[in-house]
Amino acid sequence: MTFIEAGPPGALRIAPSILAADFGALANAVREIDAETDWLHVDVMDGHFVPNVSIGPPVVQSLRPYSDRFFDCHLMMTDPGRYLEAFKNAGADGCTVHVEIGGTASLINDARALGLRVGLAANPDTPFEKVAPFLGDIDLLLLMTVFPGFGGQSFMSDVMGKVSEARREVDTNSLGVDIEVDGGIDIVTAPVAVEAGANVLVAGSAIFSRPEPLLAAHALREAALAGRR
Ligand code: DX5
Ligand code: ZN
Repeated sequence: MTFIEAGPPGALRIAPSILAADFGALANAVREIDAETDWLHVDVMDGHFVPNVSIGPPVVQSLRPYSDRFFDCHLMMTDPGRYLEAFKNAGADGCTVHVEIGGTASLINDARALGLRVGLAANPDTPFEKVAPFLGDIDLLLLMTVFPGFGGQSFMSDVMGKVSEARREVDTNSLGVDIEVDGGIDIVTAPVAVEAGANVLVAGSAIFSRPEPLLAAHALREAALAGRR
């Protein structure tokens, strides 16, 4: 199977989060929204970095035959380094690790060496200064707009200052880094995040908890486009 590439940095992308889908029918859920999916966002929770447990490499592997989209794996884990190779082998295209756990430089190197697209994530209360030193070495900066661990939480608009700061830094230095937001993204908050400078929008509830996920994903894209300057 030929997988769809990540695409040019900075392009608007919708990344449905399967965390909000029915885990008993994941393959169908993924196929149903395919036409409006740029990246598929896979939320991995270890019950340690966050107070919840979700899925891991076996689920990525099981889903891989059902989608040729870019698999954007968000590793909410204390020790993601132990699993990067397993995710790569399972079919992950990109892996994002959290800056709060430390060891960032070597995690970035390890992910890169495996041929993964590399992301770095920051919680809402983690200042931009913590991720800034790594901007030249990553492909994606994920700025959480909720505290990670659960879907269906409310968008924290006070993170938008950090999004703008990151966008300025990325553009001023022509870094080619995608800026992703994750948590509480819906048709109201998507344009706000895009206007602040985000270009990859993760959405779980706003897509999979809607009666018609494909239409909801389409509406989200339309709303996001309205936020583009
Ligand atoms: C939060 C996860 C998010 C979450 C988004 O821990 O990283 O990806 O699933 O869900 P919604 O869109 O419902 O806030
Ligand atoms: Zn996520």
